[in-house]
Amino acid sequence: MAYLWLKTAHMVLATVSISGFLLRGAGRLGGRSWVRRRWVRIAPHVIDTLFLVSGVTLAWILGASPLNTDWLAAKIAGLVAYILLGILAFRGRRRGLRVVSFVLALAAFGYVVLVAFSKRPGIWI
Ligand code: HEM
Repeated sequence: MAYLWLKTAHMVLATVSISGFLLRGAGRLGGRSWVRRRWVRIAPHVIDTLFLVSGVTLAWILGASPLNTDWLAAKIAGLVAYILLGILAFRGRRRGLRVVSFVLALAAFGYVVLVAFSKRPGIWI
């Protein structure tokens, strides 16, 4: 029962994380000033930390490790790609780099969602 609650929280946090990323990305690319507000810059870190903690706790309860569970390793790799590309999307100097990084970060997130449901790193295989 607690597991189901935690899994639901994990999925809600994933939705909040990507929604915030889309909003901030649109604001950043559109040159909006609200993206520089302190709470707008801090909130994603709080949400993403809770999101990661929920995923790690679920994996711990399942007894799964990235060393013996391929889909978990793929999710962690995808999450790292999403985070790194997300940093480039907001801090990159050139607009072209920011746009490409933003789109690739969304693709990385989409990949992790597909892995999450299929439990297959190759998604279609
Ligand atoms: C962008 C990153 C992530 C997204 C979008 C995501 C999304 C999801 C979704 C949608 C589910 C529910 C899948 C289902 O109902 O079968 C799920 C479950 C789960 N996630 Fe994540 N997740 C992410 C990152 C992580 C990370 C980093 C970890 C661990 C370190 C993790 C561990 C888990 C575990 C253990 C489950 C439960 C699997 C099960 O009960 O069968 N997730 N995730």
